[in-house]
Amino acid sequence: MKALNAPTRVVDLILTCLGGPACQCVEARAVGPRYNRKVKTFYIETFGCQMNAHDSEKVVGTLVTEGYQQVETPEEAELVFYNTCSIRDKAEQKVFHRLQQFQRDGKGKKFAVLGCVAQQEGEKIFEKAPHVSMVCGSASYNQLPQMLVQLDAGNKRVTGLSLDTDQTFETPLTRRDNPHRAFLTIIEGCDKSCAYCVVPFTRGPERSRTSASVIAESRKLAEMGYSEIMLLGQNVNSYRDPSPAAWDFAKLLDEVGRVPGIRRVRFTTSHPRDFVQPIMEAIDSNPSLCNHVHLPVQSGSDRMLEAMRRLYTREEYLQRIAWMKACRREIAITTDVIVGFPGETDEDFQTTLALLDEVEYDSVFSFKYSRRPNTHALALDDQIPEEEKTRRLAVLQEHQRQIQIRRNASYVGRVEECLVEGFNKATGQWIGRTSQHKTLNFVRAAAPSAEDLLGRYVDVRVTRSGPNSLAGECVN
Ligand code: 5AD
Ligand code: SF4
Repeated sequence: MKALNAPTRVVDLILTCLGGPACQCVEARAVGPRYNRKVKTFYIETFGCQMNAHDSEKVVGTLVTEGYQQVETPEEAELVFYNTCSIRDKAEQKVFHRLQQFQRDGKGKKFAVLGCVAQQEGEKIFEKAPHVSMVCGSASYNQLPQMLVQLDAGNKRVTGLSLDTDQTFETPLTRRDNPHRAFLTIIEGCDKSCAYCVVPFTRGPERSRTSASVIAESRKLAEMGYSEIMLLGQNVNSYRDPSPAAWDFAKLLDEVGRVPGIRRVRFTTSHPRDFVQPIMEAIDSNPSLCNHVHLPVQSGSDRMLEAMRRLYTREEYLQRIAWMKACRREIAITTDVIVGFPGETDEDFQTTLALLDEVEYDSVFSFKYSRRPNTHALALDDQIPEEEKTRRLAVLQEHQRQIQIRRNASYVGRVEECLVEGFNKATGQWIGRTSQHKTLNFVRAAAPSAEDLLGRYVDVRVTRSGPNSLAGECVN
């Protein structure tokens, strides 16, 4: 068995304190009420978005602090966590499929369902999968230590399902997976009510962190050697500093970009309604803020935008795009699109294709509409047949592929700075990421060892392009 997390000093303390529940020794006080527990092993699998990926990093930090040890496979673990996504039906089905695999041969293990499916399905999960003994939504992760104690005590149905919180989930012991780029949550939850979206029901209302805690964590990350920070939230644009400083998102973004040692700052995800001009002004004037904005549009048709309750028109969206295009640096623009929302006509769909041409996106994440529980759109008539959704998705993806071929070809001959994220042994190429968030695979004539470039910034001349990536040669 391979442990993924070597015990930290705090965990050493947990393991040496033998005091019992009433113990008041220094060790017990240092780590709270967890003591005297035999080391247990856990496995965690994460589904869904970057918010979920980062939540898992925090959950791992919490578990390790509680004396648990992470292992690589569910077979090796005593406690198996699934951090789930319910944004579309397919994502939700995945977790039940995983759980089914262990329905018979999971004896001796305990199973926990975390995240959006946990919040959405609640205690029904215990009926659907009787071998699950913990169900916890993301707004209740602060309660995990207490829930683990209940689980330890033999409680077979431990729940954390309250959405009634004004707190964000923070832990000083987050175990980040990527050694160069750190996720950093600035706001949790969502106060919008887009007609198709389950997120407000699964992640609760918006809660922002104080600007002081975001800046302090950014400084700490820089000291730890991270050079890139990705600010996270369901809608980062509606960030509101709850402290008297009262920073808005543009100010926070700019200040994180001024933290010494932080060379790149990204953010996701944005809502066009709250994407105000000062955000673009901050990006234009601060070179640490990456040349990339992800601005989900969902549809190019005003009729659909209204039905989706998106709170902006096509024209208002295009105004934001105009701000980006007016920047002194070239900003890569990416988006999300849903095809086959109830009532979408072929004309609406053609309007979306025309929008892709007008904006010339660098990348589009496109999805077939999926009916979600509790959402306004669930009750809408005029559902689009599955085959038609599939057809529209394929047409849109091919349309966008041609745009990307053209967009990426315009990079050939340019020199782009890359953060080196990996090395592909099979092709002998380094894998770099440009400020525009494009993958740029490159070769370097005199590479002394395969490890020396990882985490470094190098200049690469682009020599070839494809629809999804660029290729080139290192010039320094
Ligand atoms: N069906 C299809 N796609 C959805 N998204 C959100 N909810 C749904 C749904 N019910 C997409 C949106 C969003 C992205 C994260 O997922 O495009 O921006
Ligand atoms: Fe969902 Fe809309 Fe909130 Fe985004 S802004 S999380 S799409 S409700």
